Amino acid sequence: MIVLGIESSCDETGIAVYDSDRGLLAHTLHSQVAVHAEFGGVVPELASRDHIRYLVPLLEQALKQAKISKAAIDGVAYTAGPGLIGALMSGASVGRSLAWALGVPALEVHHMEGHLLAPMLEDRPPDFPFVALLVSGGHTLLAYVKGIGQYELLGQSLDDAAGEAFDKTAKLLGLGYPGGPALAALAEAGRSGVYKFPRPMIDRPGLDFSFSGLKTFALNTMQKAAEKDNGELSQQTKADISLAFEEAVVDTLKIKCRRALEQQYCDRLVIAGGVGANRRLRMELARMIRQLGGELFYPRIEFCTDNGAMIAQAGCFRLMAGETQPLEIEARARWSMQELKAI
Ligand code: KG4
Ligand code: ZN
Repeated sequence: MIVLGIESSCDETGIAVYDSDRGLLAHTLHSQVAVHAEFGGVVPELASRDHIRYLVPLLEQALKQAKISKAAIDGVAYTAGPGLIGALMSGASVGRSLAWALGVPALEVHHMEGHLLAPMLEDRPPDFPFVALLVSGGHTLLAYVKGIGQYELLGQSLDDAAGEAFDKTAKLLGLGYPGGPALAALAEAGRSGVYKFPRPMIDRPGLDFSFSGLKTFALNTMQKAAEKDNGELSQQTKADISLAFEEAVVDTLKIKCRRALEQQYCDRLVIAGGVGANRRLRMELARMIRQLGGELFYPRIEFCTDNGAMIAQAGCFRLMAGETQPLEIEARARWSMQELKAI
């Protein structure tokens, strides 16, 4: 079965062609960084317009890359949420209409399910069950995954998502948008131990997270450092603060992942979502998993952040299982993963 996947939930337009027999045949991506950079964050209306501009050209490019015609498509999968409503509607309209015109089924895909299953795009996919750490700009959660659609929520962020905390702290440091990768890059020049940030909620039992306090801690640290440095933060101080912040987030995630694995008597861990692209996080989780004698799985960097491949794949799994949906277009800003059907 050949499935066309469409991702347009936020600031990336992604299209991919996934074949149930041969795997990923093609994927194309357009990032809106340049559109939103001058505003310091994503402007929803501009995001929708940009998706509309790029969806069809990217689709044609993906078909060309996959060396197939539209007639070869057996199904269309598109992100229906969670995300920005206008942005989601752009991809959903194109997906539904194309499927209707071709006389093939179309299926809504949950963006976070796409992320969660993204490691299955790789050569060494994880077996079920596994513990998944989903860390993106909008969500931070730990789930116990027994199969597709069987997601037991173990814990989640009570306030900011990890990616959001990276982005907000980066903004405080004057690093602009998108902040996470910029902060991580600056942290490379940081000196460990100059500043020490707290590890939120590790003393409490359970697997929930809270990251908003780290951003406030960063602000206070910056103000104190600026007083010492005659009001201006040096580049080295910014790098030291970035590193201390990154270490605190990574350490907190690592501690909770370990706790989740022990609680579930599981030794397979999957990391997915944009923050999963963070080098230090991958390195530290790999070290922890080695100590436990377990296995760590993550998608290649480009499939950690938003992309069409993960949507095409998740849609293909569900279409192959015979899932069908009515013709109406429904986009959801919020959508719990627990509502998904097990297949
Ligand atoms: O999954 P994603 O592309 O979009 C959402 O579904 O939210 O995740 C985007 C988030 C942003 O907050 C971005 O700053 C963060 O992932 N991110 C990173 C890195 N690359 C992306 N955070 C830390 N280090 C990185 N290398
Ligand atoms: Zn995402």
